[in-house]
Amino acid sequence: MNLLAIKVQADRLQKDLLNLAEYGQEPDGGMMRTALSDADLEARRWFKSRMKESGLHVREDAAANIIGRLDPTEGPTDAPCIAIGSHIDTVLHGGKFDGALGICGGLEAIRAIQESGLFIPCPIELFVFTDEEGGHFAGTFGSRAIFKMLVDNEIHRSKGSGLPSIAQDLKRMGKDINSFDDVVRSPSEFRAFLELHIEQGPVLESIGVPIGIVEGIVASERYIIKVKGRAGHAGTTPMHLRDDALVKAARIITSLNNTIISIGSDFVGTMGQVVVKPGAFNIIPGSVNIFLEIRSFREVIITLGREAVQGVIRSFDNVHVEPVVSKGCVASDLAIMDMAELSCRERGIRFHRMGSAAGHDARTFAQQGVPTGMIFIPCKEGRSHCPEESINWDDAAVGAQILADTVLRIGSETK
Ligand code: HGY
Ligand code: MN
Ligand code: MN
Repeated sequence: MNLLAIKVQADRLQKDLLNLAEYGQEPDGGMMRTALSDADLEARRWFKSRMKESGLHVREDAAANIIGRLDPTEGPTDAPCIAIGSHIDTVLHGGKFDGALGICGGLEAIRAIQESGLFIPCPIELFVFTDEEGGHFAGTFGSRAIFKMLVDNEIHRSKGSGLPSIAQDLKRMGKDINSFDDVVRSPSEFRAFLELHIEQGPVLESIGVPIGIVEGIVASERYIIKVKGRAGHAGTTPMHLRDDALVKAARIITSLNNTIISIGSDFVGTMGQVVVKPGAFNIIPGSVNIFLEIRSFREVIITLGREAVQGVIRSFDNVHVEPVVSKGCVASDLAIMDMAELSCRERGIRFHRMGSAAGHDARTFAQQGVPTGMIFIPCKEGRSHCPEESINWDDAAVGAQILADTVLRIGSETK
């Protein structure tokens, strides 16, 4: 099989990415396309029509995952598929390429494979996973739903009062949330899973290399730290008689940040959201929820960090921690990494093997034992999860090309 016959069209990919960025774009160029918001639903409709135009059989499951399937040109249609996927939702005020590159690049890879005239040895499925970013609650919702990995009751939870749970949004879409029969799949249905993504960090740009071959994905854990104080009148209560939950939360945040720094290694922790209640000029804060996330590539460091964090929290009165979700480290499949590497070598493209300190739906597949690989391209100044997120269009095309080559390389390997 002459894989050099596969040629992605850089212009078509660029056009799709720019088109997708019109859904939920803010005046400063940032993206506001949280999962199942109106902008997300419009973007999903547009992407489904692009998938259909490309000859994919498109369905949407009860968890709102979109799946586009291409049958093989030879061999049984019920053989395990090679899955490609990423997400269409964005973080709050996010960028245009996180997730978007994976789905548009995945579609371009499939189109290029079809146009190459090479035979397609097994089914290929393109997934758009629901709520990767955790706009509703814990993130990677769609991929975890596929493998029954959702945490108890999470579909009914939200990040704060007034915000919808994913169950509410799915019902709004007419989905039956009591039956995920058409969502759940067996790992054995997947021969491999591949995700193309921007690096979201500075490494590739700093070494001037267009392709990252991902060796593994970081572990992450999320917690809500619940700080209780005593609400009261902001004018009449003397300062020395207050139990102000936000003042206590500020001490906790500083102390936790110092502890996280002291652990060193690759351990990172972020308190990216604080909810103050009741939340008014004239009421002493009665309670505060701090959203904490910790990450490391090494389970032993995560354990160490978790214990240190819990120690800090225990040293404060009236503070409790609620675990939200724990997602372990995973390793990429060695054979898939080698195939991605070979694809780069054959096309004379420089590559670099590296870890992913960002989480992805690929982690879910790897946790289920599906052979998994990820391909990264550089992003400008390593910026991501912000409006400044930017890429070089040539790199996007190279990423889609290596994805396409790797898909057919996996497909043509005899099992
Ligand atoms: O949070 C993450 O690591 C990913 O970008 N969703
Ligand atoms: Mn992201
Ligand atoms: Mn992403």
